[in-house]
Amino acid sequence: VTPEIVTSVADLRERLDAARSESRRLGFVPTMGALHEGHASLIRRARGECGHVVVSIFVNPLQFDRPDDLARYPRSLERDAAVCERLGVDTIFAPVLEEMYPRPQVCTVDVGPLADHLCGRFRPGHFRGVATVVLKLFQMVGPDIAYFGDKDAQQLAIVRRVVSDFSVPVVIVGVATVREADGLALSSRNARLSPEERAVAPRLYRLLQEVRRRIESGVRDAADATGQAVAAVPGAGRLEYLDVVDPETMHPVATVAGPVIVAGALWVGSTRLIDNVRCTPPA
Ligand code: PAF
Repeated sequence: VTPEIVTSVADLRERLDAARSESRRLGFVPTMGALHEGHASLIRRARGECGHVVVSIFVNPLQFDRPDDLARYPRSLERDAAVCERLGVDTIFAPVLEEMYPRPQVCTVDVGPLADHLCGRFRPGHFRGVATVVLKLFQMVGPDIAYFGDKDAQQLAIVRRVVSDFSVPVVIVGVATVREADGLALSSRNARLSPEERAVAPRLYRLLQEVRRRIESGVRDAADATGQAVAAVPGAGRLEYLDVVDPETMHPVATVAGPVIVAGALWVGSTRLIDNVRCTPPA
């Protein structure tokens, strides 16, 4: 079946009310388009668990801290619609800017200390923009379950907290990162890499794996675990951060005492890549 492309909130609500009246569980995958296999894994999971699957496609200006990143963000609605059709999506919600933000957004979601570290530290206002648009989308779609990629670990932790703090009746599911054969996490931004940059990009994941190995082999001091790994990285690419953080607060830990997330951001040319791995120290 060809998915219906809906562009207005009123039409979306009408269509989803009909699905709800048939007692179909509503699964939601929010995206900014340029769909790749990472998105496909979220959609497949939603398709397997829900009676009606909604994918939103909206490049949210509120979450871009650099105008060039927003301008260069890939847009491919026709291709995305074909991907959604292949994956059995029921509804595509693709609002224009004025539908999403009919008036300037005066009230926004302050995510507090959750944005103090990792990407939040280097991308001022980014998570405020993410949390605000996600809360708006939840109000518009009213999903039973919403699916987010583990790749954006800080985003996922923030969405979970927004849902909890604002009592939003939705279950949040995190889906495992999809990787290329050499370990590079799939991202819409990978398309911007030149062949030389593409060759450097998998270093981020290798670095994270190295830190994970250290922690899993018993290194408890976070600085020890990351410092030695960073020292071993050859020059190409600029590491923006590499931190060992608590999975819920997203604050760095000095000593690894339980499950942690090791997260990093690597600049390769003018492209910024992020990735993370979870790990647990030996008992
Ligand atoms: O992860 C993304 O693609 C975006 O941050 C999201 C969740 C769709 C909000 O714009």
